Formats: sequence, C-alpha cells, structure tokens
Amino acid sequence: MKRYRIGIIGLGAMGSGYARVLAANPRWELAAACDLRPERLQWAATLNPALRLTQDADDLLRDPTLDALGLFTLADIRPRLLSAALRHGKHVIAEKPIAATLPEEQALLAEIEASPCLVAVNLFNRNAWYHHEMQAFIRRGEIGHLAALIISHQAAGGLMPTEGHQPEGPPFHDCGMHYVDVARWYAESEYDRWDAQGVRLWAWKDPWWVTAHGAFRNGVAFNITQSFAYGQLAKDKVVRCGMDVIGALGVIRMSHDFSQVTIEYHGVNTTERKVGPYGGKKLDVLCEKFAASLDAGRSLDLPLARDSVVASAVSQAMLDQATRHAPVVGAPEELERILAHRRELRRARS
Ligand SMILES: NC(=O)c1ccc[n+]([C@@H]2O[C@H](COP(=O)([O-])OP(=O)(O)OC[C@H]3O[C@@H](n4cnc5c(N)ncnc54)[C@H](O)[C@@H]3O)[C@@H](O)[C@H]2O)c1
Repeated sequence: MKRYRIGIIGLGAMGSGYARVLAANPRWELAAACDLRPERLQWAATLNPALRLTQDADDLLRDPTLDALGLFTLADIRPRLLSAALRHGKHVIAEKPIAATLPEEQALLAEIEASPCLVAVNLFNRNAWYHHEMQAFIRRGEIGHLAALIISHQAAGGLMPTEGHQPEGPPFHDCGMHYVDVARWYAESEYDRWDAQGVRLWAWKDPWWVTAHGAFRNGVAFNITQSFAYGQLAKDKVVRCGMDVIGALGVIRMSHDFSQVTIEYHGVNTTERKVGPYGGKKLDVLCEKFAASLDAGRSLDLPLARDSVVASAVSQAMLDQATRHAPVVGAPEELERILAHRRELRRARS
C-alpha cells in the first residue's frame, strides 16, 4: 500500500494532535512541519528527528515531494494556504472553518469543488463510531420516522473570551457549527427556519450561551444548545453533552463526558445500553479515511468542505440572531475571576 507524504502547517493544540497521529500511522510519512513559533518546531523534532522544519509555509506549498498538506492554523490564514495548496496539486486535510468569513468560505468552496484534489474538513462528529451506530439503528427502522433532535453541548472546557480563536468567533460558531452540522447530517435535509436566543454573560460583547430551535425543510425539528459557560467556577466541573434522537416510534439517548459515551437505545425491537470510548477528535479515523480515499481517488465518507461551509453559515446566522437581542447577565469582574481561575488550572497542569 502506498505511503503518503504529508506536511503540516500549524502545530498548536490541533496541529500537535495530528502530528502525533500521522507520525504513528504507517499509511503516512510525516515529512515536514511548519509553525511560526520555534518552540513548536522543537517539539515536532521530538516526533521524528528527520522531519523537515520551517517557519515559512511556502516551503511546504512548493515542495513537490509532498502528496498532501494539513492546514491547522487559525481560520484567517487558511484561505491563502488552501488555495495555494490546490494550485500546487496537493490534497488537503483542513481544520474548520475553512475561512474566517462567509464570502471567503464560499469562494474557497468553489475552488475546492472545481479541483481534482481531495479536501477533507475535520467535522469530527462524522468520524465518531457512536454516531454511525446510532444512524444504523435509525436505518433499521427501530425508532420509526425521525421527528426531532435535541442536542446539548455545554461544558466548561472550551475557550473563554480573550483566550484565542478570535477568527473563529464566539463558541456558537467556533464549536457550535459542529452541532449544527450533526443535526443536518441526521435530518438529511437543509435548515428551513429557526429562532435563536443568547445571553451576554459577564457583559461580554458576544453571547457565550446560545440556544436555537427550529425545523428542517423535511419537517424534522431541532433544538441545539451550545455553551462554554457551564459552571466555569464550579468547584467540581460538570458537563451536559449529548443528544436525544426522537422518532415516531422510539428514541435514542446519547450522552458523553469527553471520556466515555453512553447510548441508550429504546427501539421497537431493541432495548440496549452501550458504553464506549469518546475518542477525542477522532483524528486517527480521519487520517486513516483520508489515506483510503487517496487510494480510491475519491472521498470515502470524508467530511467535506460543503458540509463545513453550510454549518458555518447557519451557525453564524443563528449566532447573529441571538446576539441582536441578548440580555446582559453578570459583570466583567466575574469574567476576570474565571480567567484567573483558568490560568491557575493551566499552571497546575503544566
Ligand atoms: N475540529 C475540531 O473539533 C477543532 C477543535 C479545536 C480547534 N479547531 C480548529 O483548529 C484550528 C487550530 O486551532 P488550535 O486550537 O490548534 O489553534 P492554536 O492557536 O493552538 O494553533 C494555531 C497554530 O498555528 C500557528 N500559525 C499561525 N500562523 C501561522 C503561519 N503563518 N504559518 C505557520 N504556522 C502558523 C500558530 O503559531 C499556532 O501554533 C482552528 O481553526 C480551530 O477552529 C478544530
């Protein structure tokens, strides 16, 4: 089997995860890595001393020996890199969103769809074993016609205001686009209408807690609540993450705590409780599928740029609507306390 040579640009939180996975996968040769920060390059050298390291992304774009590039910077510089990668005939694994603004995303999508190169975007839920199992349960008719999806992704682990991801925007876009995508994937339909509400916690300019409900064109109803304002200063942290998939006849209840996934199947023929690993961002699955897709010369169930652009556009529209009427709750001093607490937790971990 062919071993593909890949170079990665961006060795931050996500890029380091990909670097580890690619270095450990026999289908891939992690050949080059790029970051502006010398300390990240030093870290990458510990994975493979033969790795070509550079602070200039153009070195990787011009390297004719690379089959593929991984674009794991923030979204603001991704369009230039992605466009250049396609011009140089390179396949791409990109982080989401593919750009920082909708017009740029749409222009890039047209380039991607006109290119012979393969582009996968890391909508990680689409690589999750538990979603594939739950969808198989639905296809077997166990819950009857799909009626409603209730999704919650509320935790204290995500970024707070000022901590990063400015080009990606507030959590309902940065992270919420994943759950906007999940609902659309299950519904197998396009969004039709919605109402979104948010709360501008700590008097921050953007709502850090947002809920949206509405319906798809085929009638499936949804409710998506996303927030990183879920007990930030609680002595013992908790999460509320998972989804109810409600059918005309049965129901599936899934929840996770970022370590373990629990699925309760209540179908017409089957009642079952299943527990399994959450599996983080499933980068191993994505990299494996990407290699298999390159072998096949076509996408084998890869999460695609079109799905990412739709999810980004809809989550941004929901966020904009929520922002327009969001009441202020709390005060800036509370945010300062939270940021100080989080700095302390990071110090204790390092
Ligand atoms: N799919 C997911 O579930 C998921 C989760 C978290 C983050 N993300 C996405 O991944 C992307 C990266 O997020 P992150 O948290 O790793 O960010 P990060 O800030 O930790 O890492 C970004 C890295 O890119 C580097 N960089 C910036 N400009 C560069 C340039 N011109 N050339 C080379 N390197 C450059 C930075 O030095 C930094 O190391 C974001 O777009 C984010 O939205 C996706």
